[in-house]
Amino acid sequence: MTVEAFAKVNLTLEVFAERDDGYHELKSVVMPVSLSDALEIGEAPSFSSDTGYDDDLCLKAARVLDPTRGVRVKVKKRIPAGGGLGGGSADAAAVLRALNEMRGLGLSRAQLAEIGAGVGSDVPSLVLGGAVLMEGRGERVTPIVLPDGFCLHLVLVNPRIESSTAAVYAEVRDGRRLTAEDAACSPTRRMIAALQANDFDGIVSALSNDLQRPAIRLYPEIAGAIDSLRAAGAAGVSMSGSGSCVFGLVRDADEATELSSRMNARGYQSWPVRTGAENMV
Ligand code: C5P
Repeated sequence: MTVEAFAKVNLTLEVFAERDDGYHELKSVVMPVSLSDALEIGEAPSFSSDTGYDDDLCLKAARVLDPTRGVRVKVKKRIPAGGGLGGGSADAAAVLRALNEMRGLGLSRAQLAEIGAGVGSDVPSLVLGGAVLMEGRGERVTPIVLPDGFCLHLVLVNPRIESSTAAVYAEVRDGRRLTAEDAACSPTRRMIAALQANDFDGIVSALSNDLQRPAIRLYPEIAGAIDSLRAAGAAGVSMSGSGSCVFGLVRDADEATELSSRMNARGYQSWPVRTGAENMV
């Protein structure tokens, strides 16, 4: 079976206290975007893939689903690794969905998301697809219902460095404690309200990522990409996940294409993308 695995951006990413298990409590609005890997998934006597990764999340997902049934996965990689765009997690989510269908398992999206939590923190939200509120370490996922035809246009920019998620989280100091007051006016709450009202300026002003400063301390190139994208005219700019990729919000597809080619000309790897395609799960 051939499937597309879509990348994601985090429109907000709030990081709270570190838990006893070493993970941080999160609140994040996750949105799939139209940059994808293409996967070919087939039943096989053993578990194999052509990604060359030691910790291949595709195979981990297949094993978590059923350790007794092998698969062979071929991935045409377009989503950069170490970019905060959830590439490996999107591939794992696509494997879970495809195997559910191929094997006629009849598991619901929610059940698959629960299984995905054992594969990686970003997997449950990408299994669910669409706009999602992600909480806990990533295992609590709630769909965000958006107005019909909702679509955001973005420019993705890769500063051409790979960020280490574990290193960026380790750089987070003084994990914040959530108070009732914080929760009421949190960027995540404001983002969800702005998305549901299709309020572009509200979306721009609610963009936030608590990992951006720690990531820039480790990888100053990220600040360069943010400044470049702002200077090129993006309405709002933020980093995705633990980096290294950043994204800019723009008003339409033409502007996305234009800004993206300007960023490419400056030596970055860049893509014009959008959210909200019907088949983008
Ligand atoms: O779950 P995943 O393998 O994607 O996480 C990679 C690393 O990111 C973890 O080992 C942890 O250091 C950090 N992390 C965290 N809190 C989260 C998610 C990830 O500290 N909620």
